[in-house]
Amino acid sequence: MKVIGLISGTSTDGIDVALVDISGKGLDSQIKLLAFETYAYPEDLRRRLMEVGAGNSHVSEVCHLNFYLGELFGRAAFQVAKKAGVSVAEVELIGSHGQTIMHRPQPVHERGVKIRSTLQIAEPSVIAERTGITTVADFRPRDIAAGGEGAPLTPYLHYILFHDQSKSRLVVNIGGISNMTYLRAGKGTKDLLAFDTGPGNMLIDGMVQMWSRGKQQMDKGGKLAALGKVHPKLFRDLMG
Ligand SMILES: Nc1ncnc2c1ncn2[C@@H]1O[C@H](COP(=O)(O)OP(=O)(O)O)[C@@H](O)[C@H]1O
Ligand SMILES: [Mg+2]
Repeated sequence: MKVIGLISGTSTDGIDVALVDISGKGLDSQIKLLAFETYAYPEDLRRRLMEVGAGNSHVSEVCHLNFYLGELFGRAAFQVAKKAGVSVAEVELIGSHGQTIMHRPQPVHERGVKIRSTLQIAEPSVIAERTGITTVADFRPRDIAAGGEGAPLTPYLHYILFHDQSKSRLVVNIGGISNMTYLRAGKGTKDLLAFDTGPGNMLIDGMVQMWSRGKQQMDKGGKLAALGKVHPKLFRDLMG
């Protein structure tokens, strides 16, 4: 079964698209990657999304960007299928995480009710309409509603891809915000340990953008960092 996955993470760098072939089901699924691409957001769009995340935009901008990103996500699905030489008609399903613009897993009290919330945009109806492919989305709200932290799928996927009978494994995913999954040797999904660890590349991106006055968006390959000297005391404190 051919499936396209679409996501843009907290660093709002662009749309990651994977075309995979899935066989088997549940924890015994076999996943074969047929094509992967990141389609970078234009710089002005990235800035607008950051303004939205910072709470500086009108709801009309959120409404507009929701549909605009839906178009871009749909286009990205076409492009990755083309790259893989697969016809869109062969793709049975699109899973779209969307673009998180707000994530508030800590409860806020509202007249005696604890409200935890999350909001992703990139309208799934637009993706479905443009591609003609059944599109599933809104994974994070479903997980928050069910009492989770709103990141339901990553540990599950890490388990399918990396669990082993004799080796324990630690998967670290450094994006804008970093998360990790600990897979104990020979154990099932109930023994998974998974959580966000805090900022990943987000702070580095921010510093590089300030330092370069907006000319560079990231420290590519860690080149700038490698020019510096280790501050032994700070290093010990951070590692301690
Ligand atoms: N070659 C690279 N060198 C350094 N940092 C990189 C490189 N490629 C991507 N990044 C950084 O990785 C982050 C994007 O990774 P990604 O997994 O897409 O995260 P997210 O899911 O938060 O968008 C950005 O912070 C970007 O600046
Ligand atoms: Mg990204």
